[in-house]
Parts: sequence; structure tokens; C-alpha cells
Amino acid sequence: MSIAAETAGSGAEGDRARFSDLYANVESYYSARVAKHGATPRGVDWSCQATQDLRFVQLLKLCDFSAPFSLNDIGCGYGALCAYLARRHPQAAIDYLGIDLSLAMISRARRRFSAPGRRFKVGKAGPRRATYSVASGIMNVNVGGSRASWEVLVAEMLADLRRASLRGFSVNFVTEAAAAADANAAPVQLYCTSPEPWIRYCERDLGCAVEMIDGYGMNEFTLLARCGDC
Ligand SMILES: C[S@@+](CC[C@H](N)C(=O)[O-])C[C@H]1O[C@@H](n2cnc3c(N)ncnc32)[C@H](O)[C@@H]1O
Repeated sequence: MSIAAETAGSGAEGDRARFSDLYANVESYYSARVAKHGATPRGVDWSCQATQDLRFVQLLKLCDFSAPFSLNDIGCGYGALCAYLARRHPQAAIDYLGIDLSLAMISRARRRFSAPGRRFKVGKAGPRRATYSVASGIMNVNVGGSRASWEVLVAEMLADLRRASLRGFSVNFVTEAAAAADANAAPVQLYCTSPEPWIRYCERDLGCAVEMIDGYGMNEFTLLARCGDC
């Protein structure tokens, strides 16, 4: 059974009405983080730049850097991926669009990285179809929602990524092994999952071919979902 069908059978329509509350909670959580820690990895809830970069390495395995491409960065935070691309792929021709729920994040991203081919928008989904979309950390923090309602939202976010991507999208999740480390994080719930239901959902419901990457030294995994629409 697909995730969508499973959740539909357990009151998903009622949960759907709560999406805007969940998004609002996530937005205020991250806006508070960046207000406290500034445009730094801690300001987007990462421990340091090394782990932030390690996530980018996995997500960008989706992309063919030998040709120009457009890129949606959903949940771009303060735009750290722009700095990473400038350092690690200085020759790449990338039309970049960063999208984030939080105006506080987008304002900082604009101040630091706005340039021709580098744009930022407040929002929750890609407003255009790009060659690729990446999303680092958007599935992790469920502020005040049930696990079931969060999973309906995860399915919607994956469907949004699919709609916004011509060749494919990549996204990371926290594994169940990280749950113990989160014991002191209440009231924020860290959403921990195994890869299988989301691989199945991307393959069966979204029509993608999925590659799963793990074993990169963190309690996380990354899905590379190839759609092949162009
Ligand atoms: C863990 S932070 C990571 C930021 C950035 N990707 C990085 O790695 O530096 C997650 C960011 O995603 C944003 N976010 C969460 N869910 C989102 C959604 N559905 N659409 C857009 N932004 C979202 C949050 O506001 C936050 O800035």
C-alpha cells in the first residue's frame, strides 16, 4: 500500500486542514533559530559547516555538472548551498532559485548571495520546473503535529518536489537511529524514518527511479529520485 493510501485511510483529509498550521510552526521555529544564531549552520539547526556540506555532497550527486542546468533549492535557509557551489563547482553554469518558508532566512540569503542567476523567494514549493530540485533538512522538524499528519505533509512535500523537477530531485531524512539522540529536544519532534516507505512512495506514486545513499557517517539517508521528464 502506498503512503498516500495508508494516510488517506487514517483521517488524512482532516490532517490536510492542519498543513498551514504545521508550515507556520516550522517557519517560526526556523526564524527563531536564525534570529538566535545568525546566518550560520547552527542558525539552520546543523551542528557545523562540515556536516552541512556533507549533506550537499550527497544531494548534488543527482546533478550532471558537465552541462548548464537550473536548480531549485527548497528550504534553502540563508543560502549556504550558494557558497558551497561557488567553492566546489566554480565553473558550473547553474540558474539557482532558493525557496524558504521563512522571510528571516530569505532576507539573509538575499543580502549574502543575490546575483544574476541567484534568486530567492519566500514559499513552500518550487514556483517553476527546474532541471533539478534539492531539499536539505525540510523533512526533519515536526513542530507540534502528530506523526500521521506529518507524514501526510512529507508526502505532499515530495509531490511538490516531483512537480518542480524535470530530471529529478534529492532529499534527505533522519534515520530511526537518531531518535535516541533527540530525547531532550521536546517540544520539537525530530521526524525519524526508515527509507523503505519513502522509496516506495517516490517510485509507485511519483513515478521516479530512486537511489538511496547512506553510510556517509551520519544518522541520515539521502534519496536521489530521477524522473526523466527531459
Ligand atoms: C534544516 S534547515 C536547512 C537549510 C539549508 N537547506 C541548509 O542546508 O543550509 C531547513 C530549512 O527549510 C525550511 N523549510 C522547511 N520546510 C519547508 C518547506 N516545505 N518549503 C520551504 N522551506 C521549508 C526551513 O524554514 C529551514 O530554513
